[in-house]
Amino acid sequence: MMKGRLITFEGIDGSGKSTLAKRVVRLLRKDYDIFFTKEPTTTWTGDVVRQSIDSDTDSLVELFLFIADHAENVALIKKELSQGKIIISDRYSDSQYAYQGVLLADRFEDPIKWIKEIHDGWNIKPDLTFLLLADPSVSLARCDRQKAKFEEIEFLEKVQKNYLKLADEEPERFIKIDAEKELAEMEKEVMDRITSYLERL
Ligand code: TMP
Repeated sequence: MMKGRLITFEGIDGSGKSTLAKRVVRLLRKDYDIFFTKEPTTTWTGDVVRQSIDSDTDSLVELFLFIADHAENVALIKKELSQGKIIISDRYSDSQYAYQGVLLADRFEDPIKWIKEIHDGWNIKPDLTFLLLADPSVSLARCDRQKAKFEEIEFLEKVQKNYLKLADEEPERFIKIDAEKELAEMEKEVMDRITSYLERL
């Protein structure tokens, strides 16, 4: 049996990552055994996370809720990986590093390093991560129903900067995608990268 693989999609709000991930999952299902998951998850820990996003929750509390929900996602993924499945996750630990890294910047000297340390010893590292890059003002125009906190261009610019820093640190894992391209074009690019990666195994 083929060893399972974990592929994640990341990007700022409105980058189109969820739409793209769903389309890619549909195409991959023709040839592979796929398990699709997302963060916040669809479990009760994900509900708690969504509740915290919708209320005025302290950023440190929010971080631990996101991490608890991530631990739930990791547990789900572990089970599926052991069955040799290809896992696609719409958001994963890089979301904690990129987003909470901005929100906790005033409390820790190196928030990303600190948040990464909390994940040490139990997180499963993705094999591939697609990072969708878009101008925050373009992506904001696409998601006018998001909460005000996440709507600020400046905030999303900082989040995207964190994502780029993470990608620079691990160029072998991250694949940057220009999210201002047509969906069909992005879909082809991502499918090509995934199939060539899986065929190489
Ligand atoms: P979603 O729009 O992809 O469902 O994510 C909900 C919001 O939560 C989005 O603004 C990104 C944010 N988020 C974090 O701040 N940290 C995280 O770890 C995750 C998974 C999401």
